[in-house]
Amino acid sequence: MARYSVYDCTMIELDRHHSDRKGNISVVQNGETIPFDVKRVYYLYDVPGGESRGAHAHKELSQLIIAASGSFRVTLDDGNVKRSFVLNRPYQALYIQPGIWRDVDDFSSGAVCMVLASEKYDAADYIRDYKEFIDYRNNDTPAI
Ligand code: TYD
Repeated sequence: MARYSVYDCTMIELDRHHSDRKGNISVVQNGETIPFDVKRVYYLYDVPGGESRGAHAHKELSQLIIAASGSFRVTLDDGNVKRSFVLNRPYQALYIQPGIWRDVDDFSSGAVCMVLASEKYDAADYIRDYKEFIDYRNNDTPAI
């Protein structure tokens, strides 16, 4: 595993086509506007106020997280540094590298958290225990 830090996780501006009278459209296209090819899309919605999601890391998975509607906060943690991002624009995507712990909270009413993922679902790719995550970060291959 390459050992990415939270500073390797960035906000990406997606293509946005604006029409004064008809609203906007944003486009994500494999091989062109994003750093990996998307194999899976899922989205969180109807998250009750005050609830949080995430609380895990992925070993290999890369993700782009988009606030398709409303807003929420994503806090990234590489075991040393935490960084929080408020997502509230449908044309921005937070790029999360593998091996980063994430918590998602502060969902607005009607928020839709859309996730574009580099791999199909694999339960074995999750680290759901924070101590195990810290051990994983400390024991793996040298930092890049
Ligand atoms: P999880 O990834 O833990 O959601 P969150 O990080 O938003 O809290 O997934 C919640 C549940 O949904 C878990 O039981 C696994 C299941 N799930 C799938 O079956 N396929 C998927 O692609 C995803 C993302 C989750």
